[in-house]
Amino acid sequence: MEKQLNQIQIDAEKDIKESNSLDQLLEVEKKYLGKKGSLKAILSQIKDLSIEEKKAFGKLSNQIKVVLNELIFKQKKLIEEQEIQEQLKNEFLDVTLPAIQTQKGSTHVLKQVQKKLEEIFISLGFEVVDGPEVESEKYNFEDLNIPQSHPARDMYDTFFIDQKTEKYNRLLLRTHTSPVQIRHMLKQGAPIKVLVPGRVFRYEEADATHEHTFMQYEGLYIDKDISLSHLKGYIEEIFGQFFGSKIEVRFRPGYFPFTEPSLEFEISCPFCKNGCKVCKQTKYIELGGCGMVHPNVLKAAGIDPEKYQGFAFGGGLDRLAMLVTQNNDLRLFRQNDLRFLKQF
Ligand code: PHE
Repeated sequence: MEKQLNQIQIDAEKDIKESNSLDQLLEVEKKYLGKKGSLKAILSQIKDLSIEEKKAFGKLSNQIKVVLNELIFKQKKLIEEQEIQEQLKNEFLDVTLPAIQTQKGSTHVLKQVQKKLEEIFISLGFEVVDGPEVESEKYNFEDLNIPQSHPARDMYDTFFIDQKTEKYNRLLLRTHTSPVQIRHMLKQGAPIKVLVPGRVFRYEEADATHEHTFMQYEGLYIDKDISLSHLKGYIEEIFGQFFGSKIEVRFRPGYFPFTEPSLEFEISCPFCKNGCKVCKQTKYIELGGCGMVHPNVLKAAGIDPEKYQGFAFGGGLDRLAMLVTQNNDLRLFRQNDLRFLKQF
């Protein structure tokens, strides 16, 4: 019997050492030390032995058990260690490989131009305000001194909305940012010093310089004793800062029902001295419309024109962006072609 036991030990040690996975090791453990294992099987024969023999036999089998358990424990550690090494080898991470490039977003060029304008206006004491893009006929036209049958409505090809309100007449997509003049006067009363940047809409055939949707900006300054010379000074300062060079302002007669007198304003070309492609050799660049706010407009918004005067001026933000980027096709700003947009 002793021989048998020793043989079990020899076999078990060999099997343990040859195990190279945890599953295999578990099987070996079961085979020799489990409930139905060979050690247990031998012990069942113990009842036929003398007490002395039983003692010796029991002791020996316990010793074998201890030795085998220890071996199993060691083998288990060894296998685990090997598995970790294996994993490290297979999951090798090369930290020197170049990273996967991610695309970095940036502010749209029209927004950049808007931000720049806003910063300049704010530095001169203006507040930035906005109004709704769906506007009433009353604020977009009537209160701006453009009544129903006025021929000036032809200047603004309008998208009307199939809806009427009792108080404000038809609804439409605003054709300019000027209705915010009325909104702000009604809301705040005089004095007022605001910049209104915003999206506007006109029913126009799209070409390189026209789009049905575009951006405008508009400055409005109402206070006591405001005159055209203030307007000229502000335009000079604002666009001088915007283009980063000293510029000269030139007025030409213009016509807007909501200003009197009405003017078109031009600035000396910030890109040349003697004529270039941008100013088409004229040395001046047309920027927008302006004038002194018409007394009828002030009255419509509840401001006494005898007490307060003001100027308003406005133009296309897209046009400014075209000048800054030296791009002469307005449509590119909204085609979402990253090859174009990424340049700015
Ligand atoms: N609202 C005018 C337009 O869209 C521009 C303008 C603004 C003119 C303010 C005068 C004063 O054409």
